[in-house]
Amino acid sequence: MDKIIINGNRPLKGTVPISGAKNAALPLIAATLLAPGTYTLNNVPDLRDTRTMCNLLQTLGAVWERSGTSVQIDTSHLTGAEAPYDLVKTMRASVLVLGPLIARAGFARVSLPGGCAIGARPINFHLRGFEQLGVSTILEGGYVEARVEAPLTGSTVYFDIPSVTGTENILMASVYAQGKTIIKNAAKEPEVENLIEMLSSMGAKIEGRGTDRLTVTGVASLQPVEATIIPDRIEAGTYLMAVGAAGGELEITNCDPAHLPALVEKLRAAGMQVEAGTTTMSAFCPVDSDGRRCPLIGVDITTLPYPGFATDLQAQFMALMIQSDGVSIIHETIFENRFMHVAELQRLGADITIEGSRAVVRGISRDTLCGAPVMATDLRASASLVVAGLAASGTTEISRIYHLERGYENMVEKLQKVGADIRIQSDS
Ligand code: EPZ
Repeated sequence: MDKIIINGNRPLKGTVPISGAKNAALPLIAATLLAPGTYTLNNVPDLRDTRTMCNLLQTLGAVWERSGTSVQIDTSHLTGAEAPYDLVKTMRASVLVLGPLIARAGFARVSLPGGCAIGARPINFHLRGFEQLGVSTILEGGYVEARVEAPLTGSTVYFDIPSVTGTENILMASVYAQGKTIIKNAAKEPEVENLIEMLSSMGAKIEGRGTDRLTVTGVASLQPVEATIIPDRIEAGTYLMAVGAAGGELEITNCDPAHLPALVEKLRAAGMQVEAGTTTMSAFCPVDSDGRRCPLIGVDITTLPYPGFATDLQAQFMALMIQSDGVSIIHETIFENRFMHVAELQRLGADITIEGSRAVVRGISRDTLCGAPVMATDLRASASLVVAGLAASGTTEISRIYHLERGYENMVEKLQKVGADIRIQSDS
């Protein structure tokens, strides 16, 4: 199994280009199922998860090929409507094929995703929304079977919690439904907006983009299009925190600073200098008279739906706060088990106490964060271990890095180019 080896406590300096957003690419790839034809998606990150989603579409009869950062997908001839367990269990976002298959084929059989490291991850809101559109859903043998008995009819769908993929699934399921579908308490993440933009360019009639109330007026047909994936705000935020932890200064390019409102405020409150351009951001840490990195100030965060502080940045922020001058209380309100990285950060010397859904991080001095062998448990936890390893003196070895490869394109290369002593060690 490959490992990442980091010799830390070295400042970063240079430019990091941001790739397309994983969490926008996945729903946009799924949306190509809605209408037959050939689509071109630009700025698609080459990740384990985007390959998995394209391969899932291939099992349904689609044909796809990558050319640089563009992916061409031909969904003219679908031959199936089943997403098997052995594939869905590797990527729960596979449930995003439910909505488009229901809309196009009137039938779908998708394995329930099951839980993952960060929580039970139920899809009850998705299923309830489908039923409100007239879909019958049966749970059997670990699979959900969705069947359209009569033409879908628009309805009002209310989300108890603004589910991101739940909103995306109901948007896609309702594009052909007769009449109007109103989605209340919809997710407002930029990735949802990216999907709305693509569906609208295909001919869908969707109002309320960027708000928590979306209205979909059913249409008879849609057309295949060319669409572009937005920059990955979570990747961009991860690199801003990497330079906050390791010291130095970075310029982040090909990003959208407007997508990180909460993080930028928190990094500035912690004492970082963060400047935002149109598609770039620059960040650096204050240094003392002898050029050594000044400790950041301990800052509290609470994870919330967009535009609140993103839960996908929580683990990385915790790694940043390990060496702060003070205390940081990190309140995770989205997922019930998203502190798997705490035990691993403690192996590096971090002083963290978990109290229910809150983690209390007490800042330690720069010299007491020491490298050690650690294990990645999920995608964003592995990113937090990289951030901590870049700050820690000595060598940090991160195992199970397949988690990282799900959501970060060429992270090791991007960090090497800005001065990090980081490499992949293949054990095979
Ligand atoms: C999306 O997951 C993202 N994944 C996650 O990113 C992200 O952490 C999450 O949104 C929150 O922002 C993709 O977009 C592919 P939710 P999703 O439905 O849609 C509960 C990453 O690291 N809920 O918004 O699955 C749920 O348990 C990943 O890139 C139900 O109870 O998240 C959670 O507590 C991790 N029933 C809350 O709502 C449902 O039917 C928010 O979940 C659906 C959700």
